[in-house]
Amino acid sequence: MTAPVNPPPRLLMGPGPVNADPRVLRALSTPLIGQYDPVMTGYMNETMALYREVFATTNEATLLVDGTSRAGIEAALVSLVRPGQRVLVPVFGRFGHLLAEIALRAQAEVHTIEVPWGQVFTAAAVEEAIVRVRPHLLAMVQGDTSTTMNQPLDELGAICQKHGVLLYTDATASLGGNPFEMDAWGIDAATAGLQKCLSGPSGSAPISLSDAAVEVIRGRRRIEAGLREESDEDAGEPVHSNYFDLGMVLDYWGPRRLNHHTEATSMLYAARECARIILDEGRQAVIDRHERAGRAMLAGVRGLGLTVFGGVAHKMNNVVAVEIPDGVNGDAARGAMLQDFGIEIGTSFGPLHGRVWRIGTMGANARLDTVLVTLAALEQVLRRAGARVPAGGGVDAAYASWAA
Ligand SMILES: Cc1ncc(COP(=O)(O)O)c(C=O)c1O
Repeated sequence: MTAPVNPPPRLLMGPGPVNADPRVLRALSTPLIGQYDPVMTGYMNETMALYREVFATTNEATLLVDGTSRAGIEAALVSLVRPGQRVLVPVFGRFGHLLAEIALRAQAEVHTIEVPWGQVFTAAAVEEAIVRVRPHLLAMVQGDTSTTMNQPLDELGAICQKHGVLLYTDATASLGGNPFEMDAWGIDAATAGLQKCLSGPSGSAPISLSDAAVEVIRGRRRIEAGLREESDEDAGEPVHSNYFDLGMVLDYWGPRRLNHHTEATSMLYAARECARIILDEGRQAVIDRHERAGRAMLAGVRGLGLTVFGGVAHKMNNVVAVEIPDGVNGDAARGAMLQDFGIEIGTSFGPLHGRVWRIGTMGANARLDTVLVTLAALEQVLRRAGARVPAGGGVDAAYASWAA
């Protein structure tokens, strides 16, 4: 017999997943009930209402896609885009490439524009590309963990509306820890995940859809044989996925409760608790806490004499990319952080692989003590790897930043 799972204690200070809030872990172990139990459908309705507040929207169509954040992205793109329609993806990191990849598999005609990693787009550059490409949908990451950049979205909704374009954003890494105003910014579709600033495990993807987005999805409505009533009619070309057909998922979460998948009950409990935790503390207070912890970590790594990657003015609150000092083996140092101190920090992808570590301060881990412990450990690991680091420089700078 293998032993029951019993992982060692870890402090997860990478770009996500992070340690789940104990309230979420308790919610996950709550007994199961049937999917049409009125208590369960009541929880579903409450979850919709809670996530409307998290996304800052009045969108009726605010729910969960069962799966990791990528499931939410795939559901949004495959449901909003018909084969052959043009999709514009501004790429400023690995996850922009993912949106383009998923749109391509949804058989869209995909157009990309790019800036170097570490930068974001100006609204003018995006508008220029919209005018040139004339897309049906603009798909844009908000916070790209691969570069730590946070793309300003506040002007893009109005630009998209002016040109008759739908705006979708992947807010997986940013939602909860950075400003996000779905309605005020005119965003038509947004998706997220639990494992970053929302303090949960991965496996549930909150999603919100504007009325305009729902209209597009309803234009492809299909009800499965066996559920369909005589008055039900299919509309247009169906979504080329059954599981990710948001029209069917909406019919399941809506008043008809038409059977689709079996709702992932435990993940719904977790997602509901994640939202309750944010709203208990206050949406703005949670963003402010991420800003304060992120600023302290930034000051701390600089206090250790390390260089930060990318345009810091556009950095997400919840993650920083730190250049690996010359002569230090990045993977060996990460290994020492994990083995000797029980602290996980992140590696990086593509052009940044071997060049930077990514250190997160998010969700339940966006706190002063986690910042100090990580910096103190990093100082020792760097010293033992032969790097010259100012003694106590990281902790002192983080304390000073936190106090300010
Ligand atoms: C911006 C962004 N989008 C999408 C994903 C994919 O999320 P998941 O692994 O939950 O499918 C991630 C994960 O790191 C991410 O940071």
